[in-house]
Amino acid sequence: MLQRKKICINTGGGDAPGLNAVIEAVTMAACNRGWEVYGIKSGYTGFLNTEEIIHLTPEKVDGIASIGGTILGSTNKGNPFMMPVCNAAGECEQRDLSDRVMDNFRRLGFDALVAVGGDGSLDIAHRFAAKGMPVIGVPKTIDNDIGGTVVSFGFDTAVSIATEAIDRLHSTARSHDRVMVVEVMGRNAGFIAINSGISGNADVILIPEIPFNIDIVCEKLMENELRGHKYAIVVVAEGAVPIGGDVITKGGPELGRQHVILGGMAEHVAKEISLRTGKDSRSLVLGHLQRGGSPTTFDRRLSLRFGAAAVRAIEAGKFDHMVALQSPDIVLVPLEEALSIQKRVQVDGDTVLTGRDLGICFGD
Ligand code: F6P
Repeated sequence: MLQRKKICINTGGGDAPGLNAVIEAVTMAACNRGWEVYGIKSGYTGFLNTEEIIHLTPEKVDGIASIGGTILGSTNKGNPFMMPVCNAAGECEQRDLSDRVMDNFRRLGFDALVAVGGDGSLDIAHRFAAKGMPVIGVPKTIDNDIGGTVVSFGFDTAVSIATEAIDRLHSTARSHDRVMVVEVMGRNAGFIAINSGISGNADVILIPEIPFNIDIVCEKLMENELRGHKYAIVVVAEGAVPIGGDVITKGGPELGRQHVILGGMAEHVAKEISLRTGKDSRSLVLGHLQRGGSPTTFDRRLSLRFGAAAVRAIEAGKFDHMVALQSPDIVLVPLEEALSIQKRVQVDGDTVLTGRDLGICFGD
């Protein structure tokens, strides 16, 4: 007789288009096997507030694949190994509450957790696996910086949104003979910037992997000007760095948060361009628009495939692994292996070479 399982799923870190599609696929694939599925609220914190755990049924997930965000909620301050705990006076400290999570997981009789998240959440999943929790990871991030998979879900949508925004900037830049400097997300990886910049016909793309020289950027803009191309689009990754300089942050990391908040490089670059070339420059930050709304068809399909593959992995008893796209297949990669890779834009890879062949300046 087939073993009836009771599994749970959580979504951690920043939201990304496709999270609901993973939840739908996991729920459907599990229910079609006669299993029970539960949704843990707000990443791992839901294991500490177990009264909020919800029973997921086919009716509850019907049609959610096309909806952005996550019906389970998410947080990037919910690491149970270093959870911020505050007293009435507002004084906070970090505590290791991982044993409480393990106790609740066992008490509730779960057979497995599907942990959907970026590098931070998958690292937590791996640490719980080491404590004996049967975990299977699903790689999520618009930044596309998770190793072991060709792409994570959410990335295609973010690139599409950024490309559409860049397309729209062309008409304003052209009408005013302006330099429009647009900052996109990606943390310390330039995947969103380079892919949206190339697709959106940018003149300059600045990515963390290629430290830039502002003089070279300005030379490119002045050369364009001499050729009668009086406006320009500059795409700046939020983690871009000048040669010998550093990223610009908005403070942090706050208590319980793994990463600093990046931002401000586009404004800095626009100011420098104005100062050095005398050209009218404006900056804008696309920010969280890149994570919002409906996932593209690619992301929907990838998320559904990832979710279904996660349930097949549980059925096969393969834990402490992550589902991954190694085209054209969905495979399982050990979490340890995936987490050991720092995925970045290859500076001598095809995408950068394509940009250079198109005449795009990378500031180097
Ligand atoms: O990792 C996804 C991401 O959107 C990054 O691109 C960005 O730096 C960060 O999250 C923003 O985090 P928050 O939502 O906390 O502002």
